Amino acid sequence: MAGNDYGWYPGHMTKSIRAIREELKLVDLCIEVLDARVPLSSRNPDIDELAKDKYRLIVLNKSDLADEKKTAAWIEYFKSLGIETLVLCAKEKKTSDAVKKAAMNVCREKIERDKKRGIVGRPIRAMVCGIPNVGKSTLINTITGKAPAKTGNKPGVTRNNQWVKTSAGIDLLDTPGLLWPKFEDKSVGFKLAAIGSINDQVINLIQLAGEVTVLMNELYPGALAAKYDVQEDASVQDIIKGAGLRSGLIVKGGEVDMQRASEQILNDLRSGKLGKVTLEVPHQ
Ligand code: G4P
Repeated sequence: MAGNDYGWYPGHMTKSIRAIREELKLVDLCIEVLDARVPLSSRNPDIDELAKDKYRLIVLNKSDLADEKKTAAWIEYFKSLGIETLVLCAKEKKTSDAVKKAAMNVCREKIERDKKRGIVGRPIRAMVCGIPNVGKSTLINTITGKAPAKTGNKPGVTRNNQWVKTSAGIDLLDTPGLLWPKFEDKSVGFKLAAIGSINDQVINLIQLAGEVTVLMNELYPGALAAKYDVQEDASVQDIIKGAGLRSGLIVKGGEVDMQRASEQILNDLRSGKLGKVTLEVPHQ
């Protein structure tokens, strides 16, 4: 995992794989949570192998912050892989019913099979999986109405898995399965850093804001220039300066405080003030 500006969690991968493999043995359904703004970068494709014998449901979470058109393209993409996909905002109460309904639908074959064997009402056992910060705990909390067990976002922490019953015939494991980002591709770390999923203290924020500005100019031409009152063809430096000037982030001598201006751009992106933004499209 070394050799990447945005890499983190070194050494935990093997433990993670082992823990997920063991926990998946307990369940019928794997609910994989992705961040709708970066569905590919927030996905560890190893889950395809780990959960190959399980029913699958992908949740595109934080859809309140994502670009709706691109989200629609992502649904088609995952459909083409044969995985049912649900678009959600895990913070919303109505999420709970949507997940339960989708889970029952995905597992309908098992429910039918059970019925033929005279087994009626046996709950579906489900587990929520995903990389840190995609909203796994929020989702578990919304579905069960209870705070999920803490894992400290680190595999290997003592985990007391408990089943939480839900009204819709689903038992949910209260500890999320922790996957790790796939850092081999440098753009993965960058995009996770951009949306705020990697601790900012270990990142050069001026560099990150510069890279974000370049990507935003490519994906949403003119959006940053309009937001920060600069010419459409302004350089990356001038856009960052514009962000600083607009928020009065000036240091002695009248220069823009580039550190704080960079933070401003990142905060604006992460809080949706640059609009609903998705940083990648399928098949890039
Ligand atoms: P994790 O278990 O996968 O690590 O993620 P967790 O639920 O802790 O969520 C990470 C952050 O994402 C939290 O914000 C949470 O509130 C936010 N979040 C979860 N789902 C959604 C969603 O659908 N939309 C939006 N906009 N945000 C979501 P935080 O700032 O770390 O914590 P808090 O201050 O909100 O409690």
